[in-house]
Amino acid sequence: MNHNQIFDRLWSDYILQNPSAGKIFELFTREGEVVLNDHIAFRTFNDPRLDISVLARIFLQNGFIEKGEYVFEEKHLFARHYEHVSDPKAPRVFISQLILEDFSPYLQKIIREAINAVPEETCLSDELIFAGSLFPKPSYDVYNKLREESEYAAWLYVFGFRANHFTVSINALEKYDTIEKVNEFIKAGGFPLNSSGGEIKGTKEELLRQSSTLADRVNISFVEGEFQIPACYYEFAQRYADKDGQLYSGFIAKSADKIFESTNFTSK
Ligand code: NI
Repeated sequence: MNHNQIFDRLWSDYILQNPSAGKIFELFTREGEVVLNDHIAFRTFNDPRLDISVLARIFLQNGFIEKGEYVFEEKHLFARHYEHVSDPKAPRVFISQLILEDFSPYLQKIIREAINAVPEETCLSDELIFAGSLFPKPSYDVYNKLREESEYAAWLYVFGFRANHFTVSINALEKYDTIEKVNEFIKAGGFPLNSSGGEIKGTKEELLRQSSTLADRVNISFVEGEFQIPACYYEFAQRYADKDGQLYSGFIAKSADKIFESTNFTSK
């Protein structure tokens, strides 16, 4: 499996789970645009059995190297991003992990028990990033209790290991070459954007501006029955050159804090 095959496989699963992303991709393609991914993102917990370093392994084995590190204080997350050494078209890989020790004994217990149910071979296998949920069948009651402390934890408890979002590189688009044009195009296509903290997160001065759709709602089979909850979202990123003329390649903790809210249950 090379890195392109990894991304193709993640994309197939992602658009199956999140049909809006597939439709938006089609809209761009119909306009003659070639859609490149700025980055894709994964979520995990800081438990050493499946933390960032475990999820990153398959990328490190396929030409990626570690780049930036980020702390999201408000959301109690730590993140790293990775870039391919030689393929400039390969998306950056952004992996964040929830700092379990910052949460209640209840949340920690639920999550540790869920992780205990994951076979060690799965964590060590290349299949981990494609595995989806590896945890026991979720409870809707537990999902809602987790949400009170962390929407991120609740999302991960249900959806597990998969791309949480893909991100269209606005810099690679021809006609829709600003985030304002992209946002108008997406909304005109009938897809609502996440407006928490304003539709555009980040500024030109910070060298990165991003927006995102609200996550599609999908039916999930819980212990208590079927319920609709938000799945994944699609993101759009416009990058700017720094004073040396180099396109900024990192992420900004402050604006990403708000982007994480695209999968919130109540964001609609
Ligand atoms: Ni992102």
